[in-house]
Amino acid sequence: MKEVYTIQDLRNWSEESIRLGVIGAPVAHSLSPQIQNAALQASGIAMQYARFEIAPDELASALELMHEREFLGANLTAPHKIAALSLMEDLDSNAKRIGAINTIKFCHRAPVTGSTARNATATGFNTDGAGFARAIREAFAVDLRDLRVLVLGAGGAARAISFECARAHCERLVIANRTFAKARALANALREFFIGPKVLGPVPRLHAIPLEENALRFQIGHTDLVVNATSLGLRVGDATPVPARLIEPHLFIYDIVYAKDRETRLLRAAREVGARAADGLLMLLRQSALSFEIWFEREAPLPEMRAALGVN
Ligand code: ATR
Repeated sequence: MKEVYTIQDLRNWSEESIRLGVIGAPVAHSLSPQIQNAALQASGIAMQYARFEIAPDELASALELMHEREFLGANLTAPHKIAALSLMEDLDSNAKRIGAINTIKFCHRAPVTGSTARNATATGFNTDGAGFARAIREAFAVDLRDLRVLVLGAGGAARAISFECARAHCERLVIANRTFAKARALANALREFFIGPKVLGPVPRLHAIPLEENALRFQIGHTDLVVNATSLGLRVGDATPVPARLIEPHLFIYDIVYAKDRETRLLRAAREVGARAADGLLMLLRQSALSFEIWFEREAPLPEMRAALGVN
């Protein structure tokens, strides 16, 4: 099995055992094969899971090819989670609400005699939000309901996380994004969750801000949990999504980014000031287990998946 496959490989496909994969750009860092192959093996399923480096303009063809090659499903990572939505023939209600997907299940039904309708379908799901909530509980032993949350980012992952926080009736939710209009649109989509009986303090319960130091500085004193849901940190040398000097010891810091063999700059900065922090491995574990359960309609072997990631 190759480390990373391309659209060209999918066109000339000969790897019959590979029936699942993660699609992204970049994707070489992804630990999904490690965790899903451990799950497949532990469950006695004779399939393999691989990485696919697919550019945005190749996504539609890649999904069609996977379908033709009788793939069972796929995971999506940056930058495809939102774009893939419109390529699905069917959407789970949660994914539809979030407006992003991270899991696809292909369906290969036998053709109905005489029917001209398309039989095969691709259904989109989103396991990021539920995976995130479980990861926060495990990492910090707290519930989202009790937290004032600052989400950095407004892309696919940030949408799932923000919806999860809103649905859990978190105390407060602030969304900060480089492209401010996207943060504002996401906050607007969540407004109905915040018209409730919770006591309003001096700051709004739902707010969108630009990802800028002054705006962030003001929010930090009214925040318990900071979540990095931008892609900053994926590449060595990336800046921290929030300036290190703003990180305070009272914060929980959750970085959805994880990196093999290194700490992201955000986590290092958190550790240096004594803030409690965790990386994206727990979310990957939980979200991967939920994807496995969608594909196979059976319980995921969590202990083996944990061991494959080195998460205790
Ligand atoms: P994913 O599916 O992982 O969420 P995405 O939808 O491409 O990926 O979203 C990436 C997020 O990271 C966005 O919030 C993006 O900000 P913009 O909406 O302004 O593009 C953010 N991001 C990516 N690179 C960034 C950078 N260099 N600085 C700040 N934010 C960045």
